[in-house]
Amino acid sequence: MSVSPASLISQAVQARRHAHAPYSKFPVGAAIECADGSVFSGCNVENLSFGLTMCAERVAVGAAVAAGKTDFLRIAIVADTDEVISPCGACRQVLAEFNPSLTIFSANLRGRIQEFSLAELLPRASTGILNRP
Ligand code: THU
Repeated sequence: MSVSPASLISQAVQARRHAHAPYSKFPVGAAIECADGSVFSGCNVENLSFGLTMCAERVAVGAAVAAGKTDFLRIAIVADTDEVISPCGACRQVLAEFNPSLTIFSANLRGRIQEFSLAELLPRASTGILNRP
């Protein structure tokens, strides 16, 4: 059972509406798909301290893990930019913990979509960072 990229992106668009981004005014939504077809969404949650801000991707990962799901296949992320965004370094590493070759669909609100593999955004995660054989 798998979810279409359009549906994953649309769930990220919905989650983006809940972003708490009063400081950057840059709401982001994410939706992560698990092997069983379940989807967990997240939005960025900013904090006055700035440093405690959580990105949408990591909030989505946290929601999935809290529901007992870690077998991630694909994630969609959405922001209101001309070019699509890509996950920050911290999120790349957190995503790689679960699937170093995760597929990433990054979209803007005007229908631009770009597909990445986490393996290209964070090469050698398994041996270089996660130290797995
Ligand atoms: N942000 C995300 O949530 N995901 C990204 O991939 C890029 C950046 C958030 C963090 C911060 O709240 C705001 O966007 C500006 O960087």
